[in-house]
Amino acid sequence: MRKTFKFCLFLLGGILVLPSFTATGDPKPMFPKKVDAIIQVKCYGCHSTDSKAQKAKDKLNWDALAGLPKEQLLEKVKSIQDVLDKGSMPPARFLEKNPQDKLTDKETKTFKKWTSKKIKKLSK
Ligand code: HEC
Repeated sequence: MRKTFKFCLFLLGGILVLPSFTATGDPKPMFPKKVDAIIQVKCYGCHSTDSKAQKAKDKLNWDALAGLPKEQLLEKVKSIQDVLDKGSMPPARFLEKNPQDKLTDKETKTFKKWTSKKIKKLSK
């Protein structure tokens, strides 16, 4: 009897604690991990709340995407796909000094797979 009671408490504890762990696990669940990793390294420096590149931040702030209404998010994702198609980001002038930050073909492919999927989903 006592043992079952303890076991129940243990279970209850698990149920209460587990969700708080999973909820704080990923701060940007909007992107798949693979895409998020590319953004962090190749785009985030200019396109984030703490960025000093005001123009870049005004056009696109990854930190603010999740809070956008559906139509605006769709426009943003479309503009991201557009720059990926053109290969215009990161900017060429920046790449002259930081060639290692150029997107590889594989990264562009992974990234575009996500934008296409997201555009389809948002256009429904
Ligand atoms: C070195 C800084 C820098 C990096 C790194 C960078 N960007 Fe940009 N980005 C800019 C600037 C500056 C602008 C604004 C350009 C303008 O208005 O002429 C911009 C504009 C954009 C726009 C808006 C285009 C438009 O005309 O509406 C998108 C989308 C974008 N960037 C996506 C990306 C993506 C995706 C990456 C990563 C692969 C990236 N950027 C990396 C500086 C950067």
